Amino acid sequence: MIGIRNRLQLQKMRDAGALLREVLDKVRERIEPGVTTRRLDQLAESLIRKGGAIPSFLHYNGYPASLCTSVDDQVVHGIPNDVPLREGQILSIDGGLTLDGWQADSAFTVGIGQISAKARALIEATERSFYQGIAQAREGKRVSDIGHAVQSYVERFGFKPVRALCGHGIGRRIHEEPEVPNFGEPGRGVRLRAGMTLAVEPMIVTGDWPVHRLPDGWTEVTDDGGLCAHYEHTIAVTPDGADPEILTLPGATLAQMLAEVGA
Ligand code: MF3
Ligand code: CO
Repeated sequence: MIGIRNRLQLQKMRDAGALLREVLDKVRERIEPGVTTRRLDQLAESLIRKGGAIPSFLHYNGYPASLCTSVDDQVVHGIPNDVPLREGQILSIDGGLTLDGWQADSAFTVGIGQISAKARALIEATERSFYQGIAQAREGKRVSDIGHAVQSYVERFGFKPVRALCGHGIGRRIHEEPEVPNFGEPGRGVRLRAGMTLAVEPMIVTGDWPVHRLPDGWTEVTDDGGLCAHYEHTIAVTPDGADPEILTLPGATLAQMLAEVGA
């Protein structure tokens, strides 16, 4: 069953989203060569708790941290550690929190210092593909219209969406129905309705899409060693086919964001 949020529930998810935005923006400010992902994780956990929320990832199926920190060919679910970040790497930060019982989930990728033109292009295409994807997240459309838009967009640049990992419904639990793939034919899957809340999260690679999990039991990496970027927000489908609301980017409209990222 796919949840439809009422006004009160949506407001709670908005509050969760706004807090997560503050936390992730503060984490982002600290990212530079020499910093460890452990420090970023500690900062995130303390800010989440200070905001009266609970880190959603910590202890989720035994996951040991509040953030996922995935470097270069790591796709998602990288575990924070004590290795200093180095100039030229790309780092994906994924965070989630629960406020008053409602979830928010969001991710972004940044370069550490100067990065290659290809890495920069990958990060930008991934962000743009997210906004192209959620431009389809309207009442009356189907869930696969989102992934189709993501895939079509990134393939223009020679990049590919990862296939084994998907976005998801989100609400009281972090992973709910439906799955939101980042590729595929349009017009398939569940019909989108106002009040559905989704975490849309393109994971886009420079090489080929197969991935595997490292022996740590969590970290997903590309089979071919190609780079991966990740971009995620929690969104709400709105009534009457209007633009979706981006719950983890309060105050921003889809039109503004499309203009800002140049998609
Ligand atoms: N945002 C992540 C996802 O949607 C959630 C990770 S939970 C963790 O897959 F336990 F793996 F951290
Ligand atoms: Co997610």
